[in-house]
Amino acid sequence: MADSGTRKRNGKPASDTNGNPPKPTSTPKQKSKSSLSISDILRILGGLLLLNCLLSYFITNDSLLWGWRPWFIRPGPITRYFRGPLLLTDAELATYTGSLPNQPIYLALNGTIYDVSSNPRIYGPGGSYHVFAGKDAARGFITGCFAEDGTPDLRGAEWTYIASDIPLPPEYSPDGGEGAGEGEKPVKLTGPQKSYREQELRRARKQVRDTIEGWAKMFRGEGGKDYFEVGKVVREEGWLEREPRKALCVQAVKGRPKPRGLPAQDAGAAYRGGGR
Ligand SMILES: *[C@@H]1O[C@H](CO)[C@@H](O)[C@H](O)[C@H]1NC(C)=O
Repeated sequence: MADSGTRKRNGKPASDTNGNPPKPTSTPKQKSKSSLSISDILRILGGLLLLNCLLSYFITNDSLLWGWRPWFIRPGPITRYFRGPLLLTDAELATYTGSLPNQPIYLALNGTIYDVSSNPRIYGPGGSYHVFAGKDAARGFITGCFAEDGTPDLRGAEWTYIASDIPLPPEYSPDGGEGAGEGEKPVKLTGPQKSYREQELRRARKQVRDTIEGWAKMFRGEGGKDYFEVGKVVREEGWLEREPRKALCVQAVKGRPKPRGLPAQDAGAAYRGGGR
């Protein structure tokens, strides 16, 4: 009885009469046709996971997780997590440019500070993006004017993306709106012109948000780079309103997109044969 129990549990017959273990080929098929046990399922999942990691390793040549590096497996973000977020004024932020040895390199984007120390060749002294180190240059990330637009003031930056046939408002014109002529009445826009302008503005503002978010994603380390968020810039209430409005930099004015043309006045116009 005890012997048969052992047989069943091991799933193979006990040793033969000479005391030799049975040949593997003699292993009988498991009788039970019961569904997969939990441990079978775990084994299969474990195997798939291992296979996935190996495949990832061979294809990416370095990562077991297809380049996915969650913050909780990276030392920088973990240290930051336990210390809590760093709060710096713009003046304090300005000291983190990597100019001193072993000093971290920080940059901010619309009020959020990121650690980019892992890439001193780019953000450190002499690097092509060193101009962004130690400051919040969100505007420069939109306009592309690195030198002039080292400010978080995004007011009017959306005009970078607005079609060039829509006149810049005087406060954002590099020539201060001189071209419009002093005392001249503003041009009255027709209905379709007005909706074209509004549509462009809406689209451009979304593009600003998306562009900032795209960079933020990279600085959070989501693209596989070793950057991470460290905290926030603290600014006085109403700081933005106290800043004078900044004209759109000349380079951004020149780079504005081509006219996209007036939108159809209503969706049914083409169908009715009215055109626009
Ligand atoms: C920038 O930050 C301000 C304040 O936190 C926020 O209201 C605004 O939507 C942000 N702008 C963009 C383009 O993300």
